Amino acid sequence: MNKITRYLVKKIRSSSDIETTQNLIEANKSVPFYVSATWNQLPYSYYAYGLYHGCRLAKALGLKTVSAIEFGVAGGNGLVALEAHSKTVEKLTGVKVDVYGFDTGEGMTPPRDYRDMPYRFKQGNYKMNVAKLKERLANAKLVLGDVGTTGPSFIENHSPAPIAFASFDLDYYSSTMDAFKIFGSDHGDEYFLPRIFMYFDDVVGTTISLYNEFVGELAAIQDFNNQNEHIKIAENRAFRNYNINFSWYHQSYVMHRFKHELYDKYVSKASAESLSLK
Ligand SMILES: C[S@@+](CC[C@H](N)C(=O)[O-])C[C@H]1O[C@@H](n2cnc3c(N)ncnc32)[C@H](O)[C@@H]1O
Repeated sequence: MNKITRYLVKKIRSSSDIETTQNLIEANKSVPFYVSATWNQLPYSYYAYGLYHGCRLAKALGLKTVSAIEFGVAGGNGLVALEAHSKTVEKLTGVKVDVYGFDTGEGMTPPRDYRDMPYRFKQGNYKMNVAKLKERLANAKLVLGDVGTTGPSFIENHSPAPIAFASFDLDYYSSTMDAFKIFGSDHGDEYFLPRIFMYFDDVVGTTISLYNEFVGELAAIQDFNNQNEHIKIAENRAFRNYNINFSWYHQSYVMHRFKHELYDKYVSKASAESLSLK
């Protein structure tokens, strides 16, 4: 990073005014991709952010290829954005990204019980035009069918590169729990980064959705954590550093796989000379 870019990044980071930040980013071509993502200047910035940091971690760990997954694709706007970001991130980090999208292809399945929030989500919503989406995608793979079936067989059928980033937008508690089956301790370390960047679409909401820990994605996160002693999904606290507040900062999580063989590998920049007396 050159001096001017470093100065800009410092200014953007410390700004507490969204307009100033946006103007600075818009006016300067040299602003790095991760800064534009963090300050919400890209389509699906939260995908760009999670994917970029997942790939940076992969690089630090010496991994050459990773997987990025969108659970819940609907028409495909998110998957198209994820694929576009993967091309940029591949160039920036040198880590290749395999992109997957899970969906029934036919919209929402019937809700199973109150935890699926039938007052907010409805069977048949968000249908996909499969042919049209396939035309728009270059390499991303669509995994079509109920995630209750495609989730448990995913690792066996696709032998994916380590998962670095996953977005959860299946809306239902039951579908999210089914998707979480991919992340259980029964699958080997080779399929996961030790820390996986995650985005959950349905955890902030409105006075209609009223998301909470007892239903929907928040209940699924809580139940997954209770069921897995050595794997936990936790808030991404990096956002507490910033003065500006975007809603997706509160939708960004990290899955920690404490027993992963690479979990303890040192990836910080601090050295013995750091913090020496001035
Ligand atoms: C809100 S939409 C996804 C929107 C998309 N992420 C975007 O950014 O445009 C939710 C999707 O989850 C899918 N879904 C919900 N339950 C599912 C299940 N059990 N299996 C597969 N897909 C499911 C639905 O088909 C629907 O398309």
